[in-house]
Amino acid sequence: MDKLIVQGRKRLVGEVSISGAKNAAVAVIPAAIMAEGVSVLENLPSIEDVRSLCHTIEKLGGKCTYQDQHTLQIDCGDGIDYRATFEEVQKIRASYYFLGALLARYKKAEVALPGGCNFGVRPIDLHLKGFRALGATVEEGNGMVKAYADRLVGTSIYMDQVSVGATINIMLAATMAEGVTTIENAAKEPHVVDTANYLNMMGANIKGAGTDVIRIRGVEKLRGAQYTIIPDQIEAGTYMIAAAITGGDVLVKNIIPKHMDSLTAKLDEMNVTIEEHDDSIRVTANRPLHGANVKTMSYPGFPTDLQPQIAALLSVCSGSSVITENVWENRYQYIDELRKLGAQVEIDGRIARIQGVEHLHGAQVSATDLRAGAAMILAALAAEGESEIDGVKYIDRGYENVEHKFNALGAKITRIQV
Ligand code: EPZ
Repeated sequence: MDKLIVQGRKRLVGEVSISGAKNAAVAVIPAAIMAEGVSVLENLPSIEDVRSLCHTIEKLGGKCTYQDQHTLQIDCGDGIDYRATFEEVQKIRASYYFLGALLARYKKAEVALPGGCNFGVRPIDLHLKGFRALGATVEEGNGMVKAYADRLVGTSIYMDQVSVGATINIMLAATMAEGVTTIENAAKEPHVVDTANYLNMMGANIKGAGTDVIRIRGVEKLRGAQYTIIPDQIEAGTYMIAAAITGGDVLVKNIIPKHMDSLTAKLDEMNVTIEEHDDSIRVTANRPLHGANVKTMSYPGFPTDLQPQIAALLSVCSGSSVITENVWENRYQYIDELRKLGAQVEIDGRIARIQGVEHLHGAQVSATDLRAGAAMILAALAAEGESEIDGVKYIDRGYENVEHKFNALGAKITRIQV
């Protein structure tokens, strides 16, 4: 497992270009298998999760051809197997999107249960409830989900809680159901909208994505389409926080500033200088930062996927801060690692109380999941001395060329192949 050696006290200065959104890519790629034609997907991030989904599509009998590092041609026109039950599928949680896509096209699907990050139980009961509401019979057991239906019939589905994955998965299945499906209390994340936009380019009839009521009128079949996915809101936020924690001055480019509003407002509250342009944001931290309170919520609230990163920043801001994690049951496993770097944090269920310290110090730490790993890099950049971060495979799942992008901003990060 690779390690990163990070030199501390590095002020980041310069420009960084943000890649395509991981959480859009991992939904759009499985959606492509629904088409009886060729799709070309652009601005895909070059990350492990994308490569894993391509391997799965090829094992199902489809064809994935890279036109360049960020452009993928997917052709499942000749049909594919509906059983995604091999090991590759279990590598990432987003494999669950093959359930909705295969169910839509073939009215049957067998998918090995997802693996993914390890912060608490990550149920998919809302996904399965949606499939059953559409008329599917769904069985789950020994690491597998099997779903099949004579017909999928549109219906009205009220989501017990806001769920990105369930909203997208039900939208996939409903795209080729008979009649109209409404998803109420739907997730509004940018990647939900992106997936709906791609499906509509394929000939689907979806309205309301981005609001809490999505209306899908089923269609007989879908054609391939060329589509460019949105920039990654979480990668962008990670680099914005990196500029703040290192007292730097960074232009974060190729983004949709609107997607960053909750973070922009929070950084402004903490005394960080923010300059918004059409497709970039400049983040400058040249004054002492003070603590703030953060509550994670589904979009447009503060994203849970930036929670570890903002915790790293708050641990070196003056005063005390409180984070409330409202999305995931248990997303503080990384705090023990942050403490090794000198952070002062007390956890009480969903609440993290942070007492700002003058500075952190280098240490050996582990990435416990994708975003926790990113937070370790941010804390290590601000710490005094050298840090070693293992578990880099998690970070590579969601951050393209992570050490190269940071080093281009003045960091000194070395990857050690172990
Ligand atoms: C997506 O996960 C993202 N992953 C996560 O990002 C992100 O943290 C999460 O949305 C919230 O924004 C992808 O898009 C691949 P949810 P997802 O369904 O869809 C509960 C990252 O770092 N729930 O919105 O799995 C669930 O336990 C990853 O990129 C059920 O109870 O999240 C959680 O408490 C980490 N039953 C809450 O809902 C279900 O059937 C929100 O989960 C589904 C979810």
